[in-house]
Amino acid sequence: MSKKILILPGDGIGPEIVNEAVKALTCLRDDFGLDVDLDEALVGGAAIDATGGPLPATTLELAKEADAVLLGAVGGYKWESLDIAIRPEKGLLGLRAGLDLFANLRPAILYPQLADASTLKPEVVSGLDILIVRELTGGIYFGQPRGVRTLDSGEREGYNTLAYRESEIERICRVAFDVAGKRGKHVCSVDKANVLECTELWREVATRIGAEHADIELHHMYVDNAAMQLVREPKQFDVMVTTNMFGDILSDCAAMLTGSIGMLPSASLDENGKGMYEPIHGSAPDIAGKGIANPLATILSVAMLLRYSLNEAAMAARIERAVDEVLDDGLRTTDIHSPGATEVGTEAMGDAVVEALRARA
Ligand code: IPM
Ligand code: MG
Repeated sequence: MSKKILILPGDGIGPEIVNEAVKALTCLRDDFGLDVDLDEALVGGAAIDATGGPLPATTLELAKEADAVLLGAVGGYKWESLDIAIRPEKGLLGLRAGLDLFANLRPAILYPQLADASTLKPEVVSGLDILIVRELTGGIYFGQPRGVRTLDSGEREGYNTLAYRESEIERICRVAFDVAGKRGKHVCSVDKANVLECTELWREVATRIGAEHADIELHHMYVDNAAMQLVREPKQFDVMVTTNMFGDILSDCAAMLTGSIGMLPSASLDENGKGMYEPIHGSAPDIAGKGIANPLATILSVAMLLRYSLNEAAMAARIERAVDEVLDDGLRTTDIHSPGATEVGTEAMGDAVVEALRARA
């Protein structure tokens, strides 16, 4: 039976880059026999404009029925003045919560072809291969109570709650140890256990799960030190596991080590491997509509989707090889451009990937 993929282009550069990823998917379907059905729905600002809310019930329903979801990005200047409860970002958070996508895998891999794109010295980043496992449906992003209240003094106070149940920490740590077992066999659990009780518990649970995995080395690191170590000596890391907000911050930092956030895909998975896949960069409203966004992170998100949710590792490898080939050919979007390379736009990059795929049909 065909696997159902729901496409959510979203906002900003979302539609442009998703368009190129869909070209690659369609090529795999038409030329290589990948059995998929594609459907499309609204999320984020696009959904606010059309329906008044960032996550229409039909979109969540379609996402629940699908085998996997491919998302572009959400958000933009146009919706920034809206109340936080109905902003485009709530569409994304609603999908994560509604689909119980608690495990966010964010690889930071340095493509050898792009070693010059990093602001760090080549010897610090060459061969870099880190996987950040970010808890995605708990922590301060979702903790209650939250809001802005007026104190007796008349002054306003904003507040959010950082809370994790043991079971939530346990399940994300298990994911981290499982993937570490298939890679470098090293987990670094990142917390702020010297200050926050919640992450003191995090450390305790991580240690307990670690004890069940004798073959995997576990280290703990405070988040401030982790941020520093990421730029000082990033290759010391294999898998990093951390809370929702620490993971949000550290994954941007890790992404930039590779030179371009425009190259990095991500997977958000539930307990059964169903997932939503998206580039880790955002909607980049400043370059939306200009045809210059890098579609490779979204195309590589398709590869992750094929591997993790559709069990199509060979198809995933086809996409990864095609991306490798266009980089070898010297094609670069502006974010990864370097002297001597050929600068191309979003569409030309997508077309080149499809061409590289077809060349091996
Ligand atoms: C991310 C983004 C989101 C987050 C925003 C858009 C809500 O920054 O996926 O990292 O904070 O999780
Ligand atoms: Mg982020």
